[in-house]
Amino acid sequence: MQSYLKHLRRVTAVGAVALAAASLQPAAATAAAPTPEPGSVHTKIVGGTKAGQGEFPFMVRLSMGCGGALYAKDIVLTAAHCVNGSGPNTDITATAGVVDLQDSQAVSVKSKEVLQAPGYNGKGKDWALIKLAKPIDLPTLKIATDDKLTSGEFDIAGWGADKEGGDQQRYLLKAKVPFVDDGTCKKAYGDQLTPGEEICAGKLDTGGIDTCQGDSGGPMFRKDEAGQWLQVGIVSWGEGCARPGKPGVYTEVSTFAADIKKAADGLAG
Ligand code: ARG
Repeated sequence: MQSYLKHLRRVTAVGAVALAAASLQPAAATAAAPTPEPGSVHTKIVGGTKAGQGEFPFMVRLSMGCGGALYAKDIVLTAAHCVNGSGPNTDITATAGVVDLQDSQAVSVKSKEVLQAPGYNGKGKDWALIKLAKPIDLPTLKIATDDKLTSGEFDIAGWGADKEGGDQQRYLLKAKVPFVDDGTCKKAYGDQLTPGEEICAGKLDTGGIDTCQGDSGGPMFRKDEAGQWLQVGIVSWGEGCARPGKPGVYTEVSTFAADIKKAADGLAG
């Protein structure tokens, strides 16, 4: 029952992404409105703020309405639930190099091939690689290979909804979310959570800050000891967005680091 419900919810989430992608233009127009209502809290992702141009140079927007990060100059790491399977694929456009999706400086490159995580069935293993038709000359995001830095506060960013049921965004939004340990996250999600393959993050007590529909596939990251950005998670799912007691769930990148590398090596050339 649990897993049936979860499957249903996931399908709904993907449907929401498709819808959100289809409504990107109107959403963008709304986001462009320059006059915030008096007294409105001018914060977005959910509970975030606008990212600066060049602040997260590895961030990618994918045309099906997901996020991603440059794993290599010609490979985007995203979520398995953002793609339909593996094989040659020229349907996806990756947009990078800008915080404003309508910026004329945006770099847009088509996909060439997709690799969905082997064995992906909707529970855990929510990662995929998209090989691009040509490289994008922007910094890549290193992935965590162990869980040493799976703690503290993480950075999240994306063009997804700024509230549950909200519109996709024209400008890249960012926020910080605290790590939530597996035991605590299990209390929120029970068997829906796959602890070895997923990590949770969010403000448990108050909610209010989270990724949301359309942020999927984007990175959750932090600085490593050397001050370099390090990807620890991939936006995967959550019950609603930014609800108290319902943290965001992210693919645990370190668990799959070796698989991701192997898959990327297989896509090379
Ligand atoms: N599955 C969503 C997507 O496709 C991501 C949802 C993240 N939800 C959350 N509460 N953190 O965009």
